[in-house]
Amino acid sequence: MSEPISFYEQAGGMDTFRRLVDAFYRGVARDDVLKPMYPEEDLGPAAERLTLFLAQYWGGPTTYSENRGHPRLRMRHMPFHVDPDARDRWLGHMRAAVDEIALPPALEAPLWDYLERAAHAMVNTFEPRGIGPTGPGRAGTGLPIRSAD
Ligand code: HEM
Repeated sequence: MSEPISFYEQAGGMDTFRRLVDAFYRGVARDDVLKPMYPEEDLGPAAERLTLFLAQYWGGPTTYSENRGHPRLRMRHMPFHVDPDARDRWLGHMRAAVDEIALPPALEAPLWDYLERAAHAMVNTFEPRGIGPTGPGRAGTGLPIRSAD
């Protein structure tokens, strides 16, 4: 029997994930809450990480883990103030990006379901911004800031 075709392939491969994430980051670049959270001024490397992560999650190449190790996404987001407002902004930009790539409904539904659940799981604070200890940013996790580190 042949291998089942992955979601990644059915959706159109890396090109589809690139278009999704590029559209998403166009929204993030204009967002005055999310944009300042990114440690690098250039959103290109962050876009590359998210593209490779999503491609891997949906059955594409495992380049993300080869470069970054185990995703540990909740832990990697701990330095950032991911409150419900940030989550809803993230999801708003992602919704626009999902609309833009116009997948067939049978593919769009599971993709959106996953993104919504993942975004809800990433919330790590209900405190208003500016309250509580100021974290040292990603440096405090001991994880590399850039993929080349
Ligand atoms: C809920 C709101 C979210 C916010 C505000 C947020 C914000 C951020 C920020 C500021 C970074 C650091 C940028 C970088 O240098 O890569 C980041 C990284 C990342 N995020 Fe999110 N994120 C959210 C949700 C998600 C979700 C739902 C996913 C997955 C479906 C995700 C996947 C990633 C990945 C893969 C990275 C790169 C991790 C690494 O290898 O270092 N994020 N996010």
